Amino acid sequence: MRPAPFRPSSAHLFVCTNARAATDPLGAGCGARGASVVEAMKRAVAQGGLASRVWVSRTHCLGVCPTEGAAVAVSPTGALFTEVTAADAAGLVAAARGA
Ligand code: FES
Repeated sequence: MRPAPFRPSSAHLFVCTNARAATDPLGAGCGARGASVVEAMKRAVAQGGLASRVWVSRTHCLGVCPTEGAAVAVSPTGALFTEVTAADAAGLVAAARGA
């Protein structure tokens, strides 16, 4: 094991895009709602010229499983947000930029 040669200088946003069957007792998951958040965050990063400072990655279940929006975890702060929508994306990226 060794440290990765690259990492974002400010923050790494992990967006849940986990999808389950609609009949799953844990709910359908963030699925497509998370995917729309990822795309909105990536647009915000590109428009802000933040590609070296803020990274955005899809991830699986973060354990909070909202029925609206998606879950987002922020590294290195450890913050965990739920019910995040595409409308929240630019604000989260801006906040992460200063993390
Ligand atoms: S399915 Fe997204 S947090 Fe669990």
